[in-house]
Amino acid sequence: MEFAGQTAIVTGTARGFGRAITRRLAWGGARVVAADINVPGAEETVTLVRQDGGEALAVQVDVASAASVEMMVKTALARFGGRVDILVNNAAIWQLLPTEELSEADWDRVVDVNLKGVFLCCRAVIPVMKQQGRGHIVNIASIAARNGGTMAGVHYVASKGGVLAMTKKLGKELGQYGIVVNGLNPGTSQTEMTATWDPTIIEGIIRNTPLGRTVTPEDIAEVVAFLASDAARFVHGETVEVNGGILCD
Ligand SMILES: NC(=O)c1ccc[n+]([C@@H]2O[C@H](COP(=O)([O-])OP(=O)(O)OC[C@H]3O[C@@H](n4cnc5c(N)ncnc54)[C@H](O)[C@@H]3O)[C@@H](O)[C@H]2O)c1
Repeated sequence: MEFAGQTAIVTGTARGFGRAITRRLAWGGARVVAADINVPGAEETVTLVRQDGGEALAVQVDVASAASVEMMVKTALARFGGRVDILVNNAAIWQLLPTEELSEADWDRVVDVNLKGVFLCCRAVIPVMKQQGRGHIVNIASIAARNGGTMAGVHYVASKGGVLAMTKKLGKELGQYGIVVNGLNPGTSQTEMTATWDPTIIEGIIRNTPLGRTVTPEDIAEVVAFLASDAARFVHGETVEVNGGILCD
């Protein structure tokens, strides 16, 4: 049990990658705060964790709100032993529109959730991790930050590029306190986020992927578990590509 006695906070846990990450960390012995704006979905995830024999707690959060994020961390500290060992910044929203059709409100909401949300969650746990002298932060960005995205608006792509840059900066700033910071760029996965995509787009992605399929939430959860564990203690400020080789050229 690589995470026995540890507390993790995972955002965006009502479905998709966040659900799989929560189950994987809990399976490894972590007590997981399953945070999401969608509480019934997070509660379903917690039920699955309990069926697996693990421990988790559903907590409502809007990662774009500082007050809500502070409350999430307070709840984690109060309920799970006064520590936060792992933060996984996974919550995000996606939108595809031509740039000239994007409203300022579209831009603000996507950047607030996907980029400011990562900042707010990191800011809230850093004092706790500093005091502990250890911690792991894993930021979920996207292949879109590497290749400009094929099925994502400029605001989504920019937000994920910001997450990559933030991962490097946080790595420089926090390493001295024993806080290990890394990122992960998932390739396309058939979660609810991509459920509206034309099947021919998915077929094209699979054709161009050397390993011949899309990414599964479990693929992502395994790499998060590695990055959140002591096995990754000297991997720092990096972003791991998890895409079946589609970026091979
Ligand atoms: N699915 C893909 O193909 C893909 C590819 C690359 C990167 N990603 C990234 O992986 C992560 C997870 O993707 P997914 O496919 O599981 O997405 P998803 O849409 O299935 O799940 C996202 C979760 O985030 C939650 N959420 C949304 N706004 C929130 C907010 N303001 N506060 C708290 N929670 C909020 C949603 O309720 C949902 O449970 C995201 O960061 C996404 O950008 C996904």
